[in-house]
Amino acid sequence: MSKLWGGRFTKETNKLVEEFTASISFDQKLAKEDIAGSLAHVQMLGECGIIPKEDAETIKQGLLKIKEKVDQNEVEFLVEDEDIHMNIEKLLIEEIGAVGGKLHTGRSRNDQVATDMHLYLRTKTTEIIKLVEDVQLSIIKQAKENIETLIPGYTHLQRAQPVSFAHHLMAYFWMFERDKERLVDSLKRINWLPLGSGALAGTTFPINRGKVAEILGFETIYPNSMDAVSDRDFILEFLSIGSIIMTHISRLSEEMVLWSSQEFQFIELDDSFCTGSSIMPQKKNPDVPELLRGKTGRTYGNLIGLLTVLKGLPLAYNKDLQEDKEGMFDTVETLEGSLKLLAPMIETMTVNKDIMRKAINNDFSNATDIADYLVTKGLPFREAHEVIGKIVLYSIQSNKFLLDLSMEEYKQFSDLFENDIFEVLAPEHVVAVRNSFGGTSPNQVKQQIKLAEEKIQQ
Ligand code: ARG
Repeated sequence: MSKLWGGRFTKETNKLVEEFTASISFDQKLAKEDIAGSLAHVQMLGECGIIPKEDAETIKQGLLKIKEKVDQNEVEFLVEDEDIHMNIEKLLIEEIGAVGGKLHTGRSRNDQVATDMHLYLRTKTTEIIKLVEDVQLSIIKQAKENIETLIPGYTHLQRAQPVSFAHHLMAYFWMFERDKERLVDSLKRINWLPLGSGALAGTTFPINRGKVAEILGFETIYPNSMDAVSDRDFILEFLSIGSIIMTHISRLSEEMVLWSSQEFQFIELDDSFCTGSSIMPQKKNPDVPELLRGKTGRTYGNLIGLLTVLKGLPLAYNKDLQEDKEGMFDTVETLEGSLKLLAPMIETMTVNKDIMRKAINNDFSNATDIADYLVTKGLPFREAHEVIGKIVLYSIQSNKFLLDLSMEEYKQFSDLFENDIFEVLAPEHVVAVRNSFGGTSPNQVKQQIKLAEEKIQQ
């Protein structure tokens, strides 16, 4: 059988052109969606009397047979047949004969491919939402074990104020919560049906787009056929949400790389998530978080790639649009792989509570609390800040930390100091008094985790 569109041509396609223009090597991932779209289309054609009911039934049975073969990996897709749409149509005609040629009535590959991708992204978005949630659950699990675990909190990667380790981890829970919200919201736009738009202008046949939408579970029908066949903003949206998710994964990964280093030793990653060095036997490398961080780059690339493809395109369909697929598949696969690893990696890491605690004893992260102390005794904050600056300088010069200074030493800087300063400076106290909503006190962190669990259950 020659090309489905061969009628107008007098020459064979150049082999290189055939290979260059074909998309079957990657769009075969859409086989299931393509068949689902065709099944809905042919049912509608039959019900609307556009093709005889018996023909619609024969086509349906043929499509189901092909689906079975695809599921069993029994079909061979051909580059000569260019893309998944024409490959399946050819297989159909081979399977049931010329009547298979009626399937494409009132339809174009342009509305067909757009529909396939909407269907594909709907399934993938729903799966990815679930995977993000698995990561959130593993964060909650670790957080619950570490409400009272103290870790230095940083700004500028300089120790700032001690915080609950659970609080630090839960920051990521909320990032992922917003990511999930973004994904859920994007489903509204993924759920627009392009099919029935024809090549660009609609069709002369009395089709029923509502019926197709109903069969395929779409909520909205694109009201403009030209928009429908050339819109890829639902993919852009997915790629941007995917990039944001990977940004969050990357930041957390970076922390895990830092925390598991010899310099920090705050956590130890489970052996099953690390690899060794071929030359240095002592090494245990955090390859997984490093790769998660590294793979973020390709998702940005996929987003920028598609933005660039689209920016200069006149309406309606242009072959450039075929370039929308590989980046989309790549981001889907990157997200799936990354989220699936991140959840168990968080869950299985060992938290070195003692080392974290020691780090806090050996820093000035309680300095703000002396300032607040003097303020409650009536000193203006600016003056208090100045006094503490001097105390910190003195401590550094005498090789001490704030809890090592004696009452006499404190008195040299201000006679507002009393014995209770030592309680105020204890790290547990420093954390416990940050009890404002969203703060790091164990009390607040418990409430935060409760709120998080409620979110998950919704
Ligand atoms: N393989 C094509 C793509 O992915 C399908 C649509 C082809 N349409 C056309 N008019 N050549 O975009």
